[in-house]
Amino acid sequence: MEGPDRVLTDPALMGDPSLVSYEKGGGYKGLRRVLSALSPTDVIAEIKESGLRGRGGSGFPTALKWEKVAHHRVPVRYVVANGSEGEPGSHKDHYLISRSPHQILEGMIIACFAVSAKSGHLFVKESFPEGVEILKKAREEALEAGLLGNNILGTGFSVDIEIFVGPAAYIAGEETALLEALEGRMPRPRPKPPFYPTEMGLHRKPTVVNNVETYAHVARIMAKGPAWFRERGTPKSPGTMIFSVSGSVRRPVVVELPLGFSLERLLYDYAGGPLPGESFQCFFTGGPSFGILPAREIDTPLEYDALRAKGTGLGSAGIIVLGSGDSVLATASSFAAFYEKGSCGQCPPCRLGTESLHDLLGRIENGSGSEEILERIAKVTKMIKGRGNCGLITASAFMAESLLEHFSPALREEIAASGESRPRRIPSWQYDHFVPQEQASARG
Ligand SMILES: Cc1cc2nc3c(=O)[nH]c(=O)nc-3n(C[C@H](O)[C@H](O)[C@H](O)COP(=O)(O)O)c2cc1C
Repeated sequence: MEGPDRVLTDPALMGDPSLVSYEKGGGYKGLRRVLSALSPTDVIAEIKESGLRGRGGSGFPTALKWEKVAHHRVPVRYVVANGSEGEPGSHKDHYLISRSPHQILEGMIIACFAVSAKSGHLFVKESFPEGVEILKKAREEALEAGLLGNNILGTGFSVDIEIFVGPAAYIAGEETALLEALEGRMPRPRPKPPFYPTEMGLHRKPTVVNNVETYAHVARIMAKGPAWFRERGTPKSPGTMIFSVSGSVRRPVVVELPLGFSLERLLYDYAGGPLPGESFQCFFTGGPSFGILPAREIDTPLEYDALRAKGTGLGSAGIIVLGSGDSVLATASSFAAFYEKGSCGQCPPCRLGTESLHDLLGRIENGSGSEEILERIAKVTKMIKGRGNCGLITASAFMAESLLEHFSPALREEIAASGESRPRRIPSWQYDHFVPQEQASARG
């Protein structure tokens, strides 16, 4: 299937964030079906059949997580929703929370039923107060309507959902740091392996942690069935995803498309193409954490495996575009600064490695680069990859490594021109500039 596919962002569901509007568009049909006709095992089987992969970054199969948690022989289990959204260039979760909060709650209630959890916890950042208010209101509405709380829809199933307002730090989006925050501590990632949240999560109990978009898909899959979901996307990356395109395009946009959609069509048809008089230089397809895709690879389909094969990734589908007028070096250096600031500092290789990468890129930027600096960047990336409690350290290494891989000649030019003042434009990836898809039609 080609073209925009408003599955989560169906105008019928998204009239406004209220329960009335959501139910009018068919909302809570999935939950009604689950509670009236299915067992927890049936629900997990349907999610497995749908092939749903987590939308928070790694694309991990959702049903596998749920199965692990459901199989533990303990009385207490938890469901957690990650609405942190800290990856530069990703704006989909804020978009979804603002417009369709009930869809997320519905998916969470279904997850609680599937793994027999008595409570769900939705993490949202304190820096997104509008989202906090919208979610709290949606929770109240669901409680009042008997869709949440005790004896849901008279079926005997009971569950509550906490809207947890957490710290705005990037690291708080890492799932185990998020669990620490939920328990009232500083958001610091836990060491893993051996224990992942599916074994030892919130309060050391088996816990499902999924991204908020993942739960929104669950609600739709349970309403319409796994085969309907699989009609979209590719066999290995089924369904749709909400893409955010920012940077040097004419129209930064948030748009829902089937996975496997052409990057080229997304950039030209929906984001309006390059800025006037410019061409595309490269893309960070999964935010900075997955490295650079050069412009010549613009025909790569937007799905997990195709992007991984090109040395990058889909992440949470926040695509940052660099035009011919942007400085890749300055952009990479600002990302390195982001990782340095975002590191929680508990793992020395991460604390020192992110600081060092930012320092080395900064030296090239300020005219004191050399061949030796390039070698040191390569050395640091090799030394730090995989050496922390979480993926932040590896993300920063990937970013710098892919800069060397694709832009070494440009870096050498910068070094040769040391001292010469150069324009160093950095693309913007802020939310304020976005055109939501309801205001942006293709080729419009
Ligand atoms: C540094 C760091 C930041 C992260 N930030 C987020 C985030 O903001 N939102 C999110 O859903 N996942 C984030 N993740 C990924 C989560 O750890 C986790 O994989 C995800 O919430 C699982 O949900 P999913 O299976 O539905 O994708 C982050 C990971 C790392 C290493």
